[in-house]
Amino acid sequence: MKIDVLTLFPRMFEGPMGESIIGKAVEKNLLEINISNFRDYSDNKHQSVDDYPYGGGAGMLLKVQPIYDNLRRIEEVSPETEKRVILLDPAGKRFNQKMAEEFSEEEHLVFICGHYEGYDERIRSLVTDEVSLGDYVLTGGELGAMVMIDATVRLLPDVLGNKLSAQTDSHSTGLLEHPQYTRPAEFNGMNVPEVLTNGNHKLIDEWQQKESLRRTFERRPDMLKKVELTGQQLKWLEEIYNEKV
Ligand SMILES: C[S@@+](CC[C@H](N)C(=O)[O-])C[C@H]1O[C@@H](n2cnc3c(N)ncnc32)[C@H](O)[C@@H]1O
Repeated sequence: MKIDVLTLFPRMFEGPMGESIIGKAVEKNLLEINISNFRDYSDNKHQSVDDYPYGGGAGMLLKVQPIYDNLRRIEEVSPETEKRVILLDPAGKRFNQKMAEEFSEEEHLVFICGHYEGYDERIRSLVTDEVSLGDYVLTGGELGAMVMIDATVRLLPDVLGNKLSAQTDSHSTGLLEHPQYTRPAEFNGMNVPEVLTNGNHKLIDEWQQKESLRRTFERRPDMLKKVELTGQQLKWLEEIYNEKV
């Protein structure tokens, strides 16, 4: 996969894009990340990238020209790839696991990180998606782009050491992940559930499925409305409900 990021603060990406899973994906040539500063594409002699809004209003807006020319350069360098161009914007569609899965199927992602008061509206005509990290306002799109890149890249084939871990993560299954334990079996009087230590894989699997349902029921009941449950899962859910009342 190729990822391009357009930002005014390329140095913000240095740490997060070079470490851990993403760093390893780059090392293994599973991923190529290019960070460009769209200030370098400004045709203004002072290299300005923002200007006052027509009609007045608070703050400065990002101009369309530097971003347009930066995107054109990416097209020149990689004419062969199909691109998904993602504008980071609090008014965009809210990012979630399903979107990360969709992005992970793409050949080439381009993230545009905004700043200041926002964008000249014509920038929106250059993109395929407008995506928000959540219902709050950040100073710039950089942190949002890093979150989206991280959530996407860990889903690429061969990036995670254990292929199963991404499939069983919270949100991938439509439910939250079940509780997990590691050694020791007892710590300060807190014990690992016995079922996990007896080696009976059928019972362990059932326990994990039921506890995943319990956790979702207790913490994110809204998620249960969106997932199709099997007859057995519905039975467990009824048991969980009855244990509560
Ligand atoms: C200070 S914000 C501009 C907010 C804009 N005036 C508004 O009300 O929508 C500057 C930039 O940060 C990024 N940003 C802020 N909040 C974001 C969010 N929740 N999701 C994605 N990007 C965000 C966007 O790129 C945005 O253009």
